[in-house]
Amino acid sequence: MKGIILAGGEGTRLRPTTLVTNKHLLPVYNKPMIFYPITTLVSAGITEIMIVTGVNHKEDFLEVLKDGSEFGAKFTYGLQEKPGGIAQALGLCKEFAGNEKILVILGDNVVEDNIKSVVENFQHQEKGAKIFLSEVDNPKSYGVAEIEGEKIVNIEEKPESPKTNLAVIGLYMYDAQVWDIITDLKPSGRGELEITDVNNNYIQKGEMTYEKLTGFWGDAGESFDSMLDTANYLAKK
Ligand code: TTP
Repeated sequence: MKGIILAGGEGTRLRPTTLVTNKHLLPVYNKPMIFYPITTLVSAGITEIMIVTGVNHKEDFLEVLKDGSEFGAKFTYGLQEKPGGIAQALGLCKEFAGNEKILVILGDNVVEDNIKSVVENFQHQEKGAKIFLSEVDNPKSYGVAEIEGEKIVNIEEKPESPKTNLAVIGLYMYDAQVWDIITDLKPSGRGELEITDVNNNYIQKGEMTYEKLTGFWGDAGESFDSMLDTANYLAKK
């Protein structure tokens, strides 16, 4: 299984700090933000990793991360020239992935759990996708999952009356069907290829399962407050 870290986007909400370097290289407590998703992948036994960056300060990534050997990994880099959405960034990784299943993580997500056993189980799952859910206090701000047994039956974006408090986080596993799904996507109202549309395609086919995280999850690049909350959690730990 191969790993993909999506670190495109412009990080406009974290200006002016993102004028200094790329959002994913800003410090979260004692490490650059992207070190956390790298650790999540490497601890899960995934060492062949493609990192998709945006154009802002792109050369800083190479300077900090190099070829990946310092992390026990091998990095391949891709460039997303415009922030056309998470699914558009993922589409750039088709050749890299070949026919293998993939684990995708957003470059600003901090996940405490070790997901090695979940990844190993997914290797044996015949087909489909798996997303990760985390219990949150304010589900109205997230994509919220509705579940029935092992399966996800619906994801509602920022619902008025959430059916659960389970937020869909930036960590996804897909089989090779994902590439055809992305090819057929149409841009959303905000002009992006949406990862939610990819996930809904698997849900409609009845091929979307889930895993509930029990440890901390932080969306460190969402706002200065979420970055601070994440850093405070890591510092106390
Ligand atoms: P966002 O936080 O939604 O996007 P952003 O980083 O551009 O932020 P802002 O709205 O402040 O400008 O994206 C979440 C993650 O998804 C981000 O860390 C990187 C990834 N991403 C891409 O790789 N490509 C994209 O086109 C987008 C929109 C996001």
